[in-house]
Amino acid sequence: MEVIIFSGADQVAEYAADIVGQMLAHKPDCVLGLATGSTPVAMYRCLAQRYRDGALSFARATTFNLDEYLGLDSDNSHSYRSYMRRELFDHVDLESERTHLPECAPGEDPRAVGPAYESLINKCGGIDLQILGIGRNGHIGFNEPSSSLASRTRVKTLARRTVSDNHRLFDSPAEQPGMAITMGVATIMDAHRVLLLATGEHKAEAVRAAVEGSISAMHPASVLQAHRRVRVLVDEAAASRLTLVEYYRRVHTQAEWIAGEFSVSGVCDPWFQDGDG
Ligand code: PGA
Repeated sequence: MEVIIFSGADQVAEYAADIVGQMLAHKPDCVLGLATGSTPVAMYRCLAQRYRDGALSFARATTFNLDEYLGLDSDNSHSYRSYMRRELFDHVDLESERTHLPECAPGEDPRAVGPAYESLINKCGGIDLQILGIGRNGHIGFNEPSSSLASRTRVKTLARRTVSDNHRLFDSPAEQPGMAITMGVATIMDAHRVLLLATGEHKAEAVRAAVEGSISAMHPASVLQAHRRVRVLVDEAAASRLTLVEYYRRVHTQAEWIAGEFSVSGVCDPWFQDGDG
């Protein structure tokens, strides 16, 4: 895993937006995997600003979000569809019919949503770049501790800790859903590239267990250790429990030097140099 440590959350957001911008430049019709939560908000603001500045375009891109609450109408202000409209979709040139979330229409069997979502991802050629946050309990998407590492998009019961971490976003506990439909751990592992973003001291233990702990279903983010192309972007606070900080910094400095010396013309990041991986 490449662990890149930044001085603060704003630098994490700028770098993540750089990578998304490079993905769009390298493959304008790319498929992006998107995340919700507080962490990626700053990255979405950077992307919207860069779109307004004419620096990037989503016109040919397709998006798949990690998850959506079950039991909330998509127009409900707490749905992840509404979040994505607020934070990104309404501010850039994404075609709305190419923005996907694992939504369950009223009356639809929620068990049918996952397989249909997986088929659509495959039909679109798979996810080129997946953005991830991490829960304090190590979840990615809503793959809570004990999720099968081979899981696919499906209905998931939310952990108590996830529900309590997200209380602040709802007006009353009665409004807050206890279930969601989420991409599975294996769905995420199929993405060609993964960017995991974590900022703040409250994420330090989850980041340590994901990067330096054992691979375990009890900490689903740890499975990313088995992915070929993962970058973990953390600020100093989220990196504060890592033991190999000095090594990660050296690796990054040297990788940047090699990329600078030997980059293929017009492509500045090695992630985008060797085909689509
Ligand atoms: P957060 O959520 O960005 O709101 O901390 C991350 C997550 O639960 O995946």
